[in-house]
Amino acid sequence: MTHLHGSTHLRLGVNIDHVATIRNARGGLHPDPVRAALAAADAGADGITAHLREDRRHISDEDIAKLKGTIALPLNLEMAPTEEMLEIALRSRPNASCLVPEKRQELTTEGGLDIVRHASLLEPYIAKLRAAGIRVSLFIDPDRQQIEASRNVGADIVELHTGVYCEARHGKSDAEIDFELKRLQEAAEQADEIGLEVHAGHGLDFESAGEVAAIPQLVELNIGHFLIGEAIFGGLDSSIRRMRAIMDNARAKSSGSKSA
Ligand code: PXP
Repeated sequence: MTHLHGSTHLRLGVNIDHVATIRNARGGLHPDPVRAALAAADAGADGITAHLREDRRHISDEDIAKLKGTIALPLNLEMAPTEEMLEIALRSRPNASCLVPEKRQELTTEGGLDIVRHASLLEPYIAKLRAAGIRVSLFIDPDRQQIEASRNVGADIVELHTGVYCEARHGKSDAEIDFELKRLQEAAEQADEIGLEVHAGHGLDFESAGEVAAIPQLVELNIGHFLIGEAIFGGLDSSIRRMRAIMDNARAKSSGSKSA
């Protein structure tokens, strides 16, 4: 399959979970994740991502309903593959559902959802979400077998777990960092080739996002913790605008070097 790369806009999905984490620390209404989503839209976000966890440690059911009713941007609902979450997704109709692991046994060694092992469990969830018009994304390691399995279970999108790469950047050798970046590059290429839309996320900051954004097959980055943390120092608007500029710049450079 041939896709358009390089010059295309790299979407930024802003994950607002940790606005709810701060709100919940006091049990009140402030800061409001919906207000953060509206501010993210003004600052140039292309989508809003929220993870409704089984233990509701940050985002609540009410947040999801309010987000869906208020924001104009597409909502990406991160959720565990459970009956309860499926019901909520079918009711709230996000633009996309990203299936993520929440229990130890669902995890691969690196932290993605183990599609190879749980294919038969996941297939019915994916089919029901897709039948309702919800795009399905699977959060996986940058691993050949997991990518192949994601296609086979009917996913529309894979979100490549960037956590190992981001951690490597803090203290590992240049060779190890390059190795992890190469894994992401190769995984993005493979996924795109077999017709999956490719997203990436977890642990990204200004520097790591700048590197990852240059991978031409990527269509979207989902970033939360760093942007919300950085907002403490310069405000949410400034942290998102700076990330947006870094991503655009990386994308412009990589498409320029391709056509040169
Ligand atoms: N993508 C997925 C699937 C996630 O679960 C998370 C974390 O909630 C992120 C992206 C964003 O990671 P971070 O908060 O480290 O930027």
